[in-house]
Amino acid sequence: MIQDTVVAAIARHQGREGPLLPILHDVQHAIGYIPREAVPEIARALNLSRAEVHGVVSYYHHFRTEPPVAPVLQMCRAESCQAMGADALWEHAKHHDGCQLEATYCLGLCASSPAAMLGDRPLARLTPEKLDEALR
Ligand code: FES
Repeated sequence: MIQDTVVAAIARHQGREGPLLPILHDVQHAIGYIPREAVPEIARALNLSRAEVHGVVSYYHHFRTEPPVAPVLQMCRAESCQAMGADALWEHAKHHDGCQLEATYCLGLCASSPAAMLGDRPLARLTPEKLDEALR
């Protein structure tokens, strides 16, 4: 299944400009993380070194290299979201059980700050009430 998912993601994006990030997003979306064995396969397909692919995976906090144990709540803690109350939301989210809270730095949803991702679901213009509802 991992192999098929990686091959399909590569096939979907290989011909486009800058295919690495879309491939990694697709793999993580399908599997929940970037499996170690995906790195050499992606590197070979894109004519990159394993270190280059691994470097991108480890650079972005969004990408995980281990399967998530519980639903992951990635809360943006970058400037735009901070200006819109992300710190208070972070404190609010820390008291929830049943999800893994991770900080991330810009989800590309700055216009809808504060923003988060619950699994692969974007949460925009987040409030404590919206967060509680999403976690229910
Ligand atoms: S700063 Fe939070 S989504 Fe960009």
